[in-house]
Amino acid sequence: MKDCYGRNIDYLRISITDKCNLRCRYCMPENGISLLNHAHILRYEEIYLFLKAAVKNGIKKVRITGGEPLTRRGIVDFVSMVRSFDKIEDIAITTNGILLPDMAKKLKNAGLDRINISLDTLDSEKYFYITRGGSLKDALLAIDKASEYFPVKINSVLIKNFNENEFDDFVLLAMKYNMQVRFIEKMPVGYGAVHFDEEYVSCEELLKKAEKISSGEPFNDGVATVYPLRKDRAAIGFITPLSHKFCTGCNKIRLTSDGKVKTCLFSQNEYDIKPYINSEEEMDKFYREIIAKKEEQHFINNKNQNQWIQNRDMNKIGG
Ligand code: GTP
Ligand code: 5AD
Ligand code: SF4
Repeated sequence: MKDCYGRNIDYLRISITDKCNLRCRYCMPENGISLLNHAHILRYEEIYLFLKAAVKNGIKKVRITGGEPLTRRGIVDFVSMVRSFDKIEDIAITTNGILLPDMAKKLKNAGLDRINISLDTLDSEKYFYITRGGSLKDALLAIDKASEYFPVKINSVLIKNFNENEFDDFVLLAMKYNMQVRFIEKMPVGYGAVHFDEEYVSCEELLKKAEKISSGEPFNDGVATVYPLRKDRAAIGFITPLSHKFCTGCNKIRLTSDGKVKTCLFSQNEYDIKPYINSEEEMDKFYREIIAKKEEQHFINNKNQNQWIQNRDMNKIGG
């Protein structure tokens, strides 16, 4: 289905939980994270009803996110349920990987197509620091295991004076596993806005480095601009919502684990699906109405830190 600006909305991100087994510093505060009230978390059957309307109206790609999606019970069956829609062509998950080694094969059998793993540094002390307690070994094991079954991409949030100097190591990692590593500009969303000025750095310098070593012309892959390396899928990508806005090509909406549709990551407009879960017809109508309200673009470059902070934390949106 097209929105008011002619964009075809075919990508739905479903956050199935706001809980996480890590505490990344750019994503959520260490203590006192307010988790969503369990009673408000959508049941899988409720997500199904929304998904049905979404698929009817053109959704072809589903990404399952969190918090950490693998911490939610029943995730494997949920993937099978998403797979049961013939019209969905691509089912992917974004995970920190910690629970992946035991689950990769089951997820493959359930019909998952792809996995993106978050990994901001290849230094174990820095990994422990940025995740507030995680072990790099677990993340590397996850990449190993996931690569046996899936095409894998790595997400690395670029943080000033933290991981900018690890470009070459990430290139080697991309080559080793024949995969795409994407550097992501830190976004001022919820808690992520608190230390934004100290931590934000644009991808500009790394883009120049990638240009130099790239084996071909850059291409677009979703929101990423990707520079191929000398091996099939190996590549370095950049996700640059601040330095190079990509709203004109936006094809997605998001469903939060407490049942709110967000038509833009940076907007505070949210639409509650709960009043419509008892009627297919009403859900369909609701779906069409919210697509018509999708924002044309974000305005986060007009600095308004208070507004940024008022948005949900990333673990409650799913990226
Ligand atoms: P692919 O399907 O492999 O292209 O993955 P993806 O990039 O769509 O999803 P992923 O969960 O791996 O997201 C990577 C990063 O891109 C996260 O930090 C997301 O928040 C960010 N991202 C994805 N889509 C958008 C978007 O439409 N707007 C903005 N601002 N950021 C996005
Ligand atoms: N800015 C950019 N990316 C973020 N992520 C989480 N918080 C932020 C932020 N403030 C990333 C995670 C994960 C994806 C879902 O979003 O690293 O890879
Ligand atoms: Fe957890 Fe992902 Fe947030 Fe890190 S970025 S705390 S892994 S939800």
